[in-house]
Amino acid sequence: MIEHIQHLLQITDLDQATIMQLLARADAIIHADQHDREQQQLLAGKTLANLFFEPSTRTRVSFELAAKRLGAEVINFDEQQSSMRKDEALLDTMLSLQAMQCQFFVLRHSENSIVTTVARQMPPGIAVINAGDGTHAHPSQALLDLFTIQQHKPDFSALTVAIIGDIKHSRVANSQIAALQMVGVKAIRLIGPAELLPEPYADPRIQFAHDIRHGLQDADVVIILRVQKERIAAEQQPDLDAYYHDYGLTRDRLACASADAIVMHPGPVNRGIEIDASICDGPQSVIRQQVRNGVAVRMAILLLLAKNMDAYS
Ligand code: CP
Repeated sequence: MIEHIQHLLQITDLDQATIMQLLARADAIIHADQHDREQQQLLAGKTLANLFFEPSTRTRVSFELAAKRLGAEVINFDEQQSSMRKDEALLDTMLSLQAMQCQFFVLRHSENSIVTTVARQMPPGIAVINAGDGTHAHPSQALLDLFTIQQHKPDFSALTVAIIGDIKHSRVANSQIAALQMVGVKAIRLIGPAELLPEPYADPRIQFAHDIRHGLQDADVVIILRVQKERIAAEQQPDLDAYYHDYGLTRDRLACASADAIVMHPGPVNRGIEIDASICDGPQSVIRQQVRNGVAVRMAILLLLAKNMDAYS
């Protein structure tokens, strides 16, 4: 198990034991009573800065709630009102915030490597959390997804997980696949048109399917992803009607999966494109449970990173 981790930039910063410990901590947080919660101001005196250079609802708000529920202060940095409009670099911006005693930086950016680059230039005792960078990684989303799966299907080794959609451009899928590999699921099926699937993996548990019904056969967990239009060149944008026709999750397609399969989506959801509204709101959907779990899982992440911080204080 990893004792002291400074940043959370990608799932492979963790090992399996640390992932399981994070999930257990999130579970304890969810089941804590009000008295326990009041006692747990474990991040009192600390400050978290949310720096989002791409839109977000779930990740930004849940990190804010997670930090506040642990007693920390939160800054929601607004690039448009900041000196970055006067060409100040991201690193200098973060170092200025650090000078004002911000210890946690939650960073979302459209570029793949920038979060890792600035994290490496932060001094000891400062934690950077990757809240989604380009097509690279979104580790806290993958962890809350694992946690949600575990609540319904505790034996990871028995699971076949189907991921449907634009996997090629999805940082969520990259992190989910890495996390599912690490906890030892039985199979991962990546389903979509050739132009939205990634390069093949060496891991024989990861299979590709272009036929959604074939790919969904007996799946225990069905993860839907939206088409990442903002990461696809204009001339390569898929026709969304055709996409729904071939890959939209409908009731009859979902019937190919196990009868007790759960349906997940990291959000934002585009009803009628990648998923039918009736499934989104139906009995197999755990989509809003994922969002709810995001706060507890992010509290667990902050507590894990605070352990390293405290070693420097
Ligand atoms: N899943 C996710 O990252 O959602 P937001 O873009 O709303 O943060």
